[in-house]
Amino acid sequence: MFYYLYYFITYSIRTLLNRQKLERTIEPMLLTTEENAVLDFTSTLKLNYSVVYGLFIFFINRISNKSFKNANHDLKVINLGSGPGICSTLINKYTPYKKVIGVDLSEAMIDVANRYVNLQNQGNDIEFAKCDITNLNLYIDKSFDLVTSLDASHHLPSHLHLKKMINESERICNDEGIIFIFDLLRPKTKDLAEGYVKWMGANTLLKGKKYFYEDFYHSVMAAWSKEEFISAVPPNTNKIWYHLQAFGFSPIQMLVGVSKNHGDLIKTQNPNLDFIKNIIPKEYWGLWLLSKNVYKKSIVTKLQPHH
Ligand SMILES: C[S@@+](CC[C@H](N)C(=O)[O-])C[C@H]1O[C@@H](n2cnc3c(N)ncnc32)[C@H](O)[C@@H]1O
Repeated sequence: MFYYLYYFITYSIRTLLNRQKLERTIEPMLLTTEENAVLDFTSTLKLNYSVVYGLFIFFINRISNKSFKNANHDLKVINLGSGPGICSTLINKYTPYKKVIGVDLSEAMIDVANRYVNLQNQGNDIEFAKCDITNLNLYIDKSFDLVTSLDASHHLPSHLHLKKMINESERICNDEGIIFIFDLLRPKTKDLAEGYVKWMGANTLLKGKKYFYEDFYHSVMAAWSKEEFISAVPPNTNKIWYHLQAFGFSPIQMLVGVSKNHGDLIKTQNPNLDFIKNIIPKEYWGLWLLSKNVYKKSIVTKLQPHH
């Protein structure tokens, strides 16, 4: 815990003192197809990456106006860039959205995801399809209650692709539905980016996941800046949009689109979310506590129409 706190404070000071100097470098492997990289991705729940899953589930529950307790089996979610299927099963298990469709363009990932879901006995509620997240023509307009994505939008080759993904997300999201895009935020300098990868990735290397470590490095370099992320929201949107990040050093950012009737973005009365500890191995509970508390006090920016 103190190890993470020390880095968080020093990186926050360096972030606040710098402007965005680091340019984006496109991922060398746009789709995760390489066998070793796919395999390493199946162990993410055993790594400190599990804290990222925890935050993702935490925020879905905080922004959703549906109750987790009275989960409704008709509530439909699509998970864009679903990878090994882990986050799709977590959504099904720990959020109000039970019918999950995961889409990915990598056949290797779809295979792994199908196997994973069958092992978990969640096959009835979760399915996967091969589909490009910038062209969701398999799905009709307004057909989902939640359109979400975890750490996939930085895989897109250009800003135009990001715009297409968000446009398509809005098209398939129903009027009262929520769009929730969760991804990395590019650090301001190369030093900060490389230092962050070493600091967070040390655990990954220790556990022998060197392909995941490399993937993590490329992901941080390919992440969108805040300005790039928010400028991808369509000007003619029917949703109210928000951008969320932590104060100081924030390796994560979130873009949320909700209906005009949604009310406050974050529930004032938070449900009891202790179950999230089930997702995270005990050795990372310190990091979880720190991350949860830092992101709980997120900087929430409401985007202006035609921003
Ligand atoms: C970093 S992984 C994240 C996986 C998963 N969301 C998770 O966090 O466990 C990104 C995934 O997005 C997929 N992807 C990248 N570009 C895509 C596209 N244009 N359409 C569909 N999937 C894409 C990759 O194949 C990969 O499986």
